[in-house]
Amino acid sequence: MRLVLVGPPGAGKGTQAKIICANQGIPQISTGDMLRAAKAAGKLPKDLVEKMAAGGLVPDEVVLDLVDARVEEPDCKPGFLLDGFPRTAPQATGLDKVLGKHDTELDVVLAIDVPSELLQERAVLRRTDKRTGQIYHLKYNPPPAGAELEHRPDDQEEVVVKRLSTYEAMTAELLPFYEKRGKLKRVSGVGTVEEVTERVFAALGISL
Ligand code: AP5
Ligand code: ZN
Repeated sequence: MRLVLVGPPGAGKGTQAKIICANQGIPQISTGDMLRAAKAAGKLPKDLVEKMAAGGLVPDEVVLDLVDARVEEPDCKPGFLLDGFPRTAPQATGLDKVLGKHDTELDVVLAIDVPSELLQERAVLRRTDKRTGQIYHLKYNPPPAGAELEHRPDDQEEVVVKRLSTYEAMTAELLPFYEKRGKLKRVSGVGTVEEVTERVFAALGISL
């Protein structure tokens, strides 16, 4: 299965992506994680570090190159899940070209809908274990003792507001684009992680 998860910041893309990928045996390709890894390795140019920290998008060519190289890798042959990509119209058409090179296309684009009033709290109280990459929430999914917790710099309240407006301005328009092509499925991301997973699996036609 080749699928895309789309949704606003804090919608639960990363959380659900890990569950789907473990179930399907496919890799999770998160452009956000790839950019954060490049930053940690000192390989992300300073202007892009600043863009991310301010809640803007990095240039389309940068993420397209990352995805193009990643989907060529052998573990992506059986399928893959794209988390947080594409995010703009040029990224969506760029992705079509990348997949077209391999005579393949997306199977499904799954949108996770969460009202904006819930997103702020989800992002601000998120913590990630830097050793395992596991995503926690201080209130809804508390980390175990001993986890090495990180707080993302773009999870500051004012940056989350900016990320939400970036999503509305740049990414929300992708939903009608994929709907017209019969690729779009939508689920509500409100409820517990387990409740959302049930809806996601039902929409994808897979079982736990
Ligand atoms: P990225 O890392 O993709 O961030 P995002 O899209 O803003 O999404 P998040 O990771 O914040 O949220 P999520 O939906 O994954 O939610 P999660 O599962 O963690 O991008 C970061 C930045 O990189 C961008 O701003 C941009 O600068 C750059 N970038 C990345 N891709 C790019 C691209 N394609 N083009 C250009 N620039 C790009 O959950 C959030 C919290 O909620 C967690 O604490 C979790 O435990 C909790 N939670 C999850 N589900 C539930 C639930 N059902 N109930 C209660 N809590 C829940
Ligand atoms: Zn994420």
